[in-house]
Amino acid sequence: CGIIAYVGQKNVQPLLIEGLKRLEYRGYDSSGLAVIDARRQMHLRRAVGRISVLEDRLAEGSPLPEANIGLAHTRWATHGPPTEANAHPHVDAAGRIALVHNGIIENYVAIKQLLVEKGYTFKSQTDTEVLAQLIGDLCIQIKEQNHLPPGASILQRAVQAALNEVEGTYGIAVVSSDEPQTLVVARKGSPLIIGVGDDEYVVASDASAIIEHTTQVVHLNDHEMAVLRAGPGRETSFRTMTIGDITVSPVVQQLENKLEEYELGDYEHYMLKEIFEQPNALRNCLRGRAEQREGRIVLGGLADHARDLVKARRFILTGQGTAWHAALVGDYLMEDLAKVVTEATYASEFRYRNPIVEEGTVVVAISQSGETADTLAALREAKERGAMALGLINVVGSTIARETDAGIYLHAGPEIGVASTKAFTCQLAALTMLSVYVGRKKFMGQGQTQEVIDALCAVPDQLDVVLKTSEQVRDIAAKFVDRENWLFLGRGYHYPVALEGALKLKEISYIHAEGMPAAEIKHGPIALINDGMPVVFIATQGLQYDKVISNIEVVRARGGKIIAVATEGDTNIGRYSDDVIYIPHTIEPIQPLLSVVPLQLMAYHAAVLRGCNVDKPRNLAKSVTVE
Ligand code: G6P
Repeated sequence: CGIIAYVGQKNVQPLLIEGLKRLEYRGYDSSGLAVIDARRQMHLRRAVGRISVLEDRLAEGSPLPEANIGLAHTRWATHGPPTEANAHPHVDAAGRIALVHNGIIENYVAIKQLLVEKGYTFKSQTDTEVLAQLIGDLCIQIKEQNHLPPGASILQRAVQAALNEVEGTYGIAVVSSDEPQTLVVARKGSPLIIGVGDDEYVVASDASAIIEHTTQVVHLNDHEMAVLRAGPGRETSFRTMTIGDITVSPVVQQLENKLEEYELGDYEHYMLKEIFEQPNALRNCLRGRAEQREGRIVLGGLADHARDLVKARRFILTGQGTAWHAALVGDYLMEDLAKVVTEATYASEFRYRNPIVEEGTVVVAISQSGETADTLAALREAKERGAMALGLINVVGSTIARETDAGIYLHAGPEIGVASTKAFTCQLAALTMLSVYVGRKKFMGQGQTQEVIDALCAVPDQLDVVLKTSEQVRDIAAKFVDRENWLFLGRGYHYPVALEGALKLKEISYIHAEGMPAAEIKHGPIALINDGMPVVFIATQGLQYDKVISNIEVVRARGGKIIAVATEGDTNIGRYSDDVIYIPHTIEPIQPLLSVVPLQLMAYHAAVLRGCNVDKPRNLAKSVTVE
C-alpha cells in the first residue's frame, strides 16, 4: 500500500493525488484522501479501483475547499475486500480523526471488542478502522483528564497511547480536526519517510512521492514517530520521538535519485523502460566494483567484513518472488565460483522452519525494495540465531538495508513496474561479484577471476544486442499468445531463469506458466504437453547443451512447440526448434544475465497483446510489506 500525507502552505488536494499516482504501483485496489480545511472541517473521499476513479469522484461532487493539511492512501487489500468502506483513510466515530495505515494490527479483534462494549460501531472490516476509533476514544479520554501542559498535542498523546496497545506492524499518518496544523506519523515494520521542505512536510511510504517536493528526508526507524506542524500563525516545527515519548534527534539525509528516474519518458510502460535500462543499470552496478584492468572485485560495502566472509562456512541466500530466483542463481554461483556451501531459500519458509544456523553462517537478504516483510522477518530470524547479515538491496536506506551488517547496493535506479526486471539482472551481477570476491580470497585463481570479470563487464554491451530481439520476440509472442499454458525449461544456471520466465508471464499476462529444470519434465509434467503447447527452452552453449537437446526432442515428439533461447552461431538448434532467439556468447555463470532478457520481453509483449495492464497487474503490489 502507499501513504502520502502533507502539512504546509500549499493546497493539499492536487498534491495528494499526484503523490498517490506515484505510489499507485504499491497497490491499487482502492484509494482515498482526507483533508482538513481552514474552518476545521474534515472532508473524506474514497473510491474502489485505481486513482483515476478517485479523481473522477472528486471531479463529480462539489469541489473540496482549499486545505493545507491532509493524507491519502492507495490500498492493496489485506483485511476485507476492496470496497469503499474498507478503503483508507478511516475516521473515528466523531469524524474528527482520519488515519491511513500500512501493515497489519494483529490484535485488532480484541481491541474492537472492547470498543464495541463501549458502544462504538464499525463501518468496515478493517484493522485500520479499529486503530482510528481507538485513537479517537483516547483523544476524548485525554481531553477529559485535562492535565496536559499548554501547547501539548492531544493527538500525539492519543497516538502514543493507542500504539502502546496494538500488536503488529504499522506505518501510519494521522490528523485531527481539533489540531488542524498537526500531522502525526509513526512506524513499526512498515516504512515511512518524512520529506522536510520549506515550511512544509511531505510524508510518504516511499521516496517516489517525495522527490518532486524535496530531496531532504528523514527515515523514521521502527518504534519512532514524528509530530509535524506547519501553518499560518504557527511556526513550522518537527519533532521525532519514540512511541514511548523519548526524544530522538532526526538524521536528515539527501535523496540520491533524480525525479527523471521516476518518469516514464518516451516509453509506453515502465516495465519496457526498465527492461531497456538494463545495460545502464548494470554499468552503474558494476562501476568501481568490477575492476577489469586490475582483475579484481572491490566491494566497499563489505570491506569491514572481508575476514568473516572468507571464514564463512555457509551462505543462506533468501528473498521472495524474483529476488528468490536471483538467490537460486546465486546458489549455483557461490558453489561454482566461491566453493562454499550455499543454500537458496524462500524467506517465508526459512523463518518458520526452526532453521539451523551454525557458526560461520552468512545470510544474504536479496530484495529490490528492501521492505518485503517475509525477507525482513527471515533476516531478523537469522541474525537472532547468530548469522552475519548481508543485503543485496536496491532502495537505499530501506529497512532491510539498514538492518544488515554490510551489503552491496544494486544501483539499478528506481524500479516502478510491478514485475521486477532490472533489479533482477543487477541482483545477478551483485551475486557474481560476491562469489568472485569470496572465491578469490579462497581458492579462485587469477585466471578464472579475470575470465569472470571480463565476461561480467561485457554484459552491458551484450545486452544492447539482446534488446534488439524485442521485435522478433513480439512476433513469437503473437503466435502463441492465445495459448493458456506455457512451460519454461532450463538446466543448471538456466533452471532459475526458467522459473523467472514463467513468473514474468504469469504476473503480467495472466497466462498459466510453469518453470522447472528441463530434466524434470519427464518425471511428470510431460503429461501436460499437448499439440501446440508453447515450451520455452533456454538452450545456450554449455556443459549440458546436449542434454537440453534431448529434452527438447522429448517435448517435440509430443507436439510441443519449441521456442529456444540459444547462443549466436549455434547452427544446430534450428533443427530442433520452431523459433530461436539468439543471444551473444558468454561463459555459463554469466549466461543468466543475458538469457533472462528475451523472457522478460516475451512476457511484456504477450501482456500488451492481451491488453493487460503491464505496470499494474491485477491483484499484485510492487512491495509486499505483510507476511
Ligand atoms: C512482490 C513483487 C515481486 C517481487 C517480490 C519481492 O511480490 O510482486 O515482483 O519479486 O515482491 O520484492 P523485493 O522488493 O523484496 O525484491
